[in-house]
Amino acid sequence: MNSERGQSTSEQTMNHDLLLGLPEIDSEHRALFAQLDRLIGKPQSHSVAEPFSEILSQLGRQIDAHFVSEESLLKACDMPPEELAEHMSAHEEILEQYTRLNLDLMAGKAIGQQSILKMVRGWIVDHVHQYDSRIRQYVSLSEEQ
Ligand SMILES: [Fe+2]
Ligand SMILES: [Fe+2]
Repeated sequence: MNSERGQSTSEQTMNHDLLLGLPEIDSEHRALFAQLDRLIGKPQSHSVAEPFSEILSQLGRQIDAHFVSEESLLKACDMPPEELAEHMSAHEEILEQYTRLNLDLMAGKAIGQQSILKMVRGWIVDHVHQYDSRIRQYVSLSEEQ
């Protein structure tokens, strides 16, 4: 039984427990989740239909910029070096998958929207759950004097 609470009609809306308490990162994450929603084509996203491929390329730029800002934060917090390296290689893997996807699409390979969406969910939703949510503990540690 899922009672809907107010504004949360979107499938991918970021849960509260995914907030890191870091305004810049949280708002970038929110924007990425919103972009995923747009890709899924939820009614609340955009009234004018943007082509899937256009949204996908916006998303690529967004992810790129987000990783740059997140990584500079990661390097500044007290994250153990092995975990930092693991997190950064997860980012690299996502960017590689994104590039590969684009090359495949450009080569005219038939890739269904559902499998693209599955991939994008992995980059955004799964990554934030698995990796980004762990940033919290190190940031609060480094901010506690
Ligand atoms: Fe992130
Ligand atoms: Fe990350």
